Amino acid sequence: MIETIQKYRQDFNSRVSSISAPEPLKQLRIDFLGKKGCVQALMKNLRQATSEEKQQQGKLINNFKQYVENQLKSKEEELGKSANRISQKTETFDTTLPGRGKTSGTLHPITQVMEEIKAIFLGLGFQVEEGPEIETDYYNFEALNIPKDHPARDMQDTFYIEGGAVLRTHTSPVQIHVMENSQPPLRIIAPGKVYRCDSDVSHTPMFHQIEGLMVERNVSFSHLKGIMNIFLQEVFGKDTQVRFRPSFFPFTCPSAEVDIQCVICSGKGCRVCSQTGWVEILGAGMVDPAVFKSVGYDPEKWAGFAFGLGIERISMLKYGINDIRLFFENDLRFLKQF
Ligand code: FA5
Repeated sequence: MIETIQKYRQDFNSRVSSISAPEPLKQLRIDFLGKKGCVQALMKNLRQATSEEKQQQGKLINNFKQYVENQLKSKEEELGKSANRISQKTETFDTTLPGRGKTSGTLHPITQVMEEIKAIFLGLGFQVEEGPEIETDYYNFEALNIPKDHPARDMQDTFYIEGGAVLRTHTSPVQIHVMENSQPPLRIIAPGKVYRCDSDVSHTPMFHQIEGLMVERNVSFSHLKGIMNIFLQEVFGKDTQVRFRPSFFPFTCPSAEVDIQCVICSGKGCRVCSQTGWVEILGAGMVDPAVFKSVGYDPEKWAGFAFGLGIERISMLKYGINDIRLFFENDLRFLKQF
């Protein structure tokens, strides 16, 4: 056994000293420490030995195994260092290359415009309120003076959910929630997502609105016009062309829609403004007495105005974007511009 181990040791030493690459070193490890290697062969021979011999020879085998492991380890380290030295000599490093900077994300343009509009109304003394996106028929329609058989329900293509609930088609139901839970005077805005079966260059099935509601003793349509003008000049600049058009909403009377001159075509007519030169961005009006009655406010005592802004439309005009769907395609080339 001693002679065999000596022979293996000589053999191992001569092979390990001649090795200069990782592959032959791996083979050497297999030949000596692998399942069919020399050390295992020695262990097998041990089976026939007496228990005394087993003790002595087992020690010798273990010593030899330890020796092989140590030698392989130091050879591996030696080869690793020289590979490093070679790569340092052969590789070049171009100090003139530009660094790889980390790109930071930005807020979505719709969020940015939302935040800007919220700040304007906070500055005018309005408070921010929220309401649910899944609404009952009562809050989305009935309490807003839109009864079941009213033709006004055709104005908005609604996503109905089983059980009679709806995805809210506008932020106006938040008016009802707020008035049910607080007493006038009040001045609130309610930003959020709304849903309609609608899709083309200026309509999407999900979009954002900001509802506004002001209830005071002597508020009038001229207050509404004044607030809308301040807001629009803040967002679009002092020279913005704005027009109020008489309109109809069941929950306001009188009602108006507000248009802004189309910035895409400067009022000449294009596909975004349907060749009219104007783009509708909000609906507004004086709160209808029927709405006050549904929340228990006395219409003889209180007056109010309300408005609902379309955030995507405002963002399109602000940034000169000619297709509303770009906001929702998640194309980083588009989003990185804001
Ligand atoms: C309403 O939703 C009313 N609730 C607004 C209102 C509030 C009137 C309070 C009176 C008092 P309208 O359906 O017109 O109104 O929508 C308001 C704005 O949302 C529009 O002016 C437009 O800017 C935007 N809008 C409407 N439909 C879409 C759509 N499918 N995609 C993107 N924006 C839309």
